[in-house]
Amino acid sequence: KKKMILDLDTGIDDALALAYALADPDCDLIGIIGSYGNVYVEQGVQNSLNLLTLLGAENVPVYLGAKHSSQTDSFKVLPVSAQIHGDNGVANIQLPKAQRTFEQKSGIDFLIEATHKYKDRLFFVPTGPLTNLAQAIKKDPEIIDLIGHVTLMGGALTVPGNVSPAAEANIHQDPEAANDVFQTHLPLTMVGLDVTTRTLLTRKETKCWRELNTQAGTVYADLVDYYIEAYKTTNPHLDGCALHDPLAVGVAIDPSLVNKIKLNLKVETKAPFEGRTIGDETRLNDSKVTTDVAVNVDKIRFLDKFMNRLTPLFAA
Ligand code: BDR
Ligand code: CA
Repeated sequence: KKKMILDLDTGIDDALALAYALADPDCDLIGIIGSYGNVYVEQGVQNSLNLLTLLGAENVPVYLGAKHSSQTDSFKVLPVSAQIHGDNGVANIQLPKAQRTFEQKSGIDFLIEATHKYKDRLFFVPTGPLTNLAQAIKKDPEIIDLIGHVTLMGGALTVPGNVSPAAEANIHQDPEAANDVFQTHLPLTMVGLDVTTRTLLTRKETKCWRELNTQAGTVYADLVDYYIEAYKTTNPHLDGCALHDPLAVGVAIDPSLVNKIKLNLKVETKAPFEGRTIGDETRLNDSKVTTDVAVNVDKIRFLDKFMNRLTPLFAA
């Protein structure tokens, strides 16, 4: 079984990623680190704790991560995040309240310690800004060679960004951290908008969950229906909402879901293309290429897997 740590800025698709990681029999979710972006880190951590309670997984520890990038005093609050995920990140729904709080240890120390413990069995899946990972690498560069794999949701290589023509939201929050991560030889897969915007969930699927008549089924159907409605206003060409974060979990567990190209990447940190993920022209001929960029996805197989795992979890 793969040991997995999720690093979430818990909005609605992060909530789906959390459920996927819990439900997949090939994955052992050993902890969640909180990030910022869709919401403040504290709100995201509370959302993760509450979702774990809803799903009967109160044994999974939750850790607090960075509140914002190292370069700034606060994170970039984007009105579009509240529009898509709700002010509280979870469609303004009151989730059942967890009877516990986050762990004392910092998320960054947890990641470092877990990497030393599980080494190549550890799979790290960040679905928010890369601040926590960049800080962990800085504090303990040994983890670069120890960690099993990092599969991140973020970036866009072959399509435009979603917060600016150049930048995807997670990379946009902390382009420096993302660039630091891409400059290492960490085993890395980028699951960006190139593939995530092709995996769509519709009301057909949420209807299935609603018909389960369970609390988890109803809450998740409500979350996703909100997300689908909001998605319509910003992405009128799409019929459904993009499964950004769950696809990263799916690819971490089963890399064969996507086609990848190997490329050394960099992130533009300066205007006008701040946040753009693009080939690093200074490393194009390096013999060592460690980043796989997902450029195509078997969306039917992914959606099947996604529903086959989540529906029984919500039915339980
Ligand atoms: C990413 O940004 C966030 O809003 C989503 O949760 C996802 O991680 C998509 O650009
Ligand atoms: Ca996210």
